[in-house]
Amino acid sequence: MGYFDQIQLFRSRLLLSRSGTINLKERNMRQIQFYFALIILVVFNSACTQAKKPQHNSVLQEKIIIGKDYHSFANTDEVVVTHVTLNLDIDFDEQSIHGNNWLFFQRKNDQVKQIILDTRDLTILNVKTKSGEEFTPLTWSWGQKDKLLGQALVIELPESEKQPIIIEYKTSPSATGLQWLTPEQTSGKKHPFLYSQSEAIHARSWIPLQDSPKVRQTYSAKVKINRKLRAVMSANNDPKATTKFSSFSFNMPQAIPSYLIALAVGNLEYSAISHRSGVWAEPSVITKATQEFEDTEKMIQAGEALYGKYAWGTYDLLILPPSFPFGGMENPRLSFITPTVIAGDKSLVSLIAHELAHSWSGNLVTNASWRDLWLNEGFTTYFESRITEAVKGLSVKNMEAVLSYQSLLAEMAELSEKDQKLALDLRGQDPDDAFTNVPYDKGRMMLDWLESKFGRTRFDYFVKNYFNHFAFQSITTEDFVDYLDKNLLQKHPKTVSISEVKQWIYQAGIPNSAIIPTTDLFKKIDILSAQWLNNRLSVQQLPTKNWSTQEWLYFLNNMPKKFKLSRMQELDKTFNLSNSHNSEIAHIWFLLSIKYNYQVAFNNMQKYLIKIGRRKLIVPLYKELAKTNKNKQWAKEVYQIARRGYHSLAQVTIDQVFN
Ligand code: BES
Ligand code: ZN
Repeated sequence: MGYFDQIQLFRSRLLLSRSGTINLKERNMRQIQFYFALIILVVFNSACTQAKKPQHNSVLQEKIIIGKDYHSFANTDEVVVTHVTLNLDIDFDEQSIHGNNWLFFQRKNDQVKQIILDTRDLTILNVKTKSGEEFTPLTWSWGQKDKLLGQALVIELPESEKQPIIIEYKTSPSATGLQWLTPEQTSGKKHPFLYSQSEAIHARSWIPLQDSPKVRQTYSAKVKINRKLRAVMSANNDPKATTKFSSFSFNMPQAIPSYLIALAVGNLEYSAISHRSGVWAEPSVITKATQEFEDTEKMIQAGEALYGKYAWGTYDLLILPPSFPFGGMENPRLSFITPTVIAGDKSLVSLIAHELAHSWSGNLVTNASWRDLWLNEGFTTYFESRITEAVKGLSVKNMEAVLSYQSLLAEMAELSEKDQKLALDLRGQDPDDAFTNVPYDKGRMMLDWLESKFGRTRFDYFVKNYFNHFAFQSITTEDFVDYLDKNLLQKHPKTVSISEVKQWIYQAGIPNSAIIPTTDLFKKIDILSAQWLNNRLSVQQLPTKNWSTQEWLYFLNNMPKKFKLSRMQELDKTFNLSNSHNSEIAHIWFLLSIKYNYQVAFNNMQKYLIKIGRRKLIVPLYKELAKTNKNKQWAKEVYQIARRGYHSLAQVTIDQVFN
């Protein structure tokens, strides 16, 4: 590492807190610490150079090792798991899974004696192996423990690879990868519900395994439930399977990373969209959901037309209760979807395009570590926009591009330089906290830029080959750069230089050559909005009748800083925005209501915050509320009621807002 890099790294470590923001006093203290540390660093460094000794890790941060997974204890260079057989007993009374996990492994090095697995909050009951018909115990012990990573489980390997490692274990009711819902938290109100969310590093809280995206395994599972409910998984799901015996079998014959192992249990029904696609949901939402997402088959076909055959057989959607902390999760064959995108007019279905796109970018070609997340999310955001263009048209694609670009800019203004890079340094950080719009929208902008430079035909051909070349592999940012260089840059010389690409990936900010999205539809909104604010148009004269959700979002998102309360009243009286059933429009309306102190909306905002647990929709509201004492008090009271309904990921984030 160069001297300058070391100083920079040191500086960023000292000056930046986890959240990227610190107060002035703290900053001064840190400045002093910084210069003090700098002196020590200089003295220490010259001493090291003179003695020609390797530099000490505890003083100088080590250079990041490309391809190393800093979020797993697993010794994947020595031994890898190739297949997992799960026997899961679901106990809704204890809120616990009693598991029996068979791990089949492959040695990468003949000498290796132990396998190190990842766990978090698991009770290990028994570890054994089987040869022939005989079971014999395996020696095991607890290894390193870490607040972010959980605890290593160290097991002596059996002699032969034919002998599986069999682990009997129990999950904790507070397992971070599971949410146990009471009947009141479901839409039917009669039955409990359970779902998993394994990305990024939560699979280890419900299955002991090598919890690293570097490792791919096939899996099979038997799930037994102490209720008459249905289980579904990121595997083959049979709509005809009976719920009579509360027992279900699954098989996933394609090798996937651990973060894509997924399970849900509830009162679920199936409704087909096409021969290979359908919706799983509670009975009271299934009709609405099937209508809303009826274009799913068209989206699959659009994806296939771009980048080749859909590789996973069936593609179903599982509609979760509203506490699901994400918009969607790309579990293979079965994307998990928030019900908050069911707007009634199909206006928020780009989310489906996104999760579907992951069937290529992410699920076929996977990020090797969380540093490389942009390979998953940036490619997917680009691909999502191409599907949207094919299915919903260019104007929707462009409007969404502008909206995303605006949020990217707003967020980047608050982010440290370190977090503005595509290849992220997440060492010592929880990957869940570190995800911003950067890997998504900056990643997508880089691909838009490459597309514009090489032209669609060449770029599409390149991306299709990229997916084919790396299918069922986990790759690093550098693998991508190398492949890009050989297969696109060098083939069409003088179009794009490798250093321009590296600037996108390894530097903060957005390069000047980026394509900035625009759309005339929004320019019209700008004009109308200005006319209204200058009293040249009355609120009734705003031609909103045919406005799309995206036009509404843009209009509301771009209100001036100085905005009178009477304007809020005008808008609400005319358009009833406080009662909007569109979760995205309601979100922005509530945000404005907090900013401009429009109390009328607070009642509905309270209901919204209690019902919905999707982080993207609620966290910004809590943050905005926390800015004044009065609102903060109100928000705390709402949170006191809402908290128990949220997923632990949302709880952790919002706890931080108040502390
Ligand atoms: N894979 C992500 C969700 C995720 C990312 C979970 C990182 C855990 C860690 C999913 O595909 C996603 O990006 N969801 C977005 C949807 C979107 C950008 C359309 C979401 O949930 O907001
Ligand atoms: Zn995604």
